[in-house]
Amino acid sequence: MTYSKIAGTGRYLPEKILTNFDLEKIVDTTDEWIRTRTGVERRHVCADDETTSDMCVAAAKEAMESAGVTADEIDMVVIGTTSPDLIFPNIATLVQHRLGIPACPCIGMEAACTGFIYALSTADKYIKASEASCVLVIGAECITKLVDWSDRNTCVLFGDGAGAVIVKPSDEPGIMSCHLGADGQYKDLLYYPVGASNKLEKAGTDEAAIMMSGRDVFKVAVSTLGDVASDTLNAAGIDKEELDWLIPHQANIRIIQATAKRLDLPMEKVILTVQDHGNTSAASVPLALDTAVRDGRVKRGQLVLMEAFGGGFTWGSVLMRF
Ligand code: UT7
Repeated sequence: MTYSKIAGTGRYLPEKILTNFDLEKIVDTTDEWIRTRTGVERRHVCADDETTSDMCVAAAKEAMESAGVTADEIDMVVIGTTSPDLIFPNIATLVQHRLGIPACPCIGMEAACTGFIYALSTADKYIKASEASCVLVIGAECITKLVDWSDRNTCVLFGDGAGAVIVKPSDEPGIMSCHLGADGQYKDLLYYPVGASNKLEKAGTDEAAIMMSGRDVFKVAVSTLGDVASDTLNAAGIDKEELDWLIPHQANIRIIQATAKRLDLPMEKVILTVQDHGNTSAASVPLALDTAVRDGRVKRGQLVLMEAFGGGFTWGSVLMRF
């Protein structure tokens, strides 16, 4: 059987850092409130002229280098993002062109914060079907450009960044199981109110900003992330004690702690980057993965569960031997 395996990882974070103390000067908030309610201490923010594809290219170069892969070997690009440069062409084609990757399928996937998990699961399927042999998968978000900077309920939460992986076939696992889900009945709890065919005239006005019912999102996130983790482990016949690492979506430290508790997993086995990055939506899981790979915590052969949850709602998980 052919498995797919992550051969290398990379990340990019914009140069500009905004701390909670900086935010105290912009909206009626405090470092103490943000830290205790969310776990966030700082976040990176794109420059005015910096785009999601700029971040994707930088993260991809790191992943290609760490996997020892050149552009001409890549035969598929899948990018999860809700903040692409353009409505079309899709972001994967922009990144393909800039990296000099030869003609191949290029897919932009929109699943809010679950975008990277959806993208990785897609790459896994193409590799297992022998329809791709070297896939560039990215989760990236320039989400601070979708935020209302006068709304303290949302502007303190988010940050920008990109995380990338190279996925290749392998005789041994690799990705062991992927679980994806979505339930559109929750569409009004977390959304961005402007699209190409809907209220486009509001783009660039105060009405175009992320809308979120934080408390409701919180509740569904905790129960869904707990359930998807358990379902994934059960489907793979893995006991939770066998897990080396949980790499959850980094939206709120309290959601992460609640998920770890439901899994009886000590926080020492959870990769946390929410303090440094804030909620980077689709970039959050690959940023956390790359951070932990590069600082030596996540090692080859270890059992890793990644999971995410976001607008839609969408959710998903990937269980893998790194
Ligand atoms: O990535 C996709 C998924 N997104 C999420 O998972 C986000 C899920 N939700 C959350 O993380 C939390 O609900 C928030 C961090 C957004 C909010 O935390 P909370 O503990 O649910 O606070 P709350 O919304 O219940 O607000 C509590 C109080 C309110 O004041 P009153 O009504 O009690 O007087 C808010 O107005 O905190 C106030 N508040 C703030 N105060 C200072 C809200 N935002 C702020 C702020 N600074 N930035």
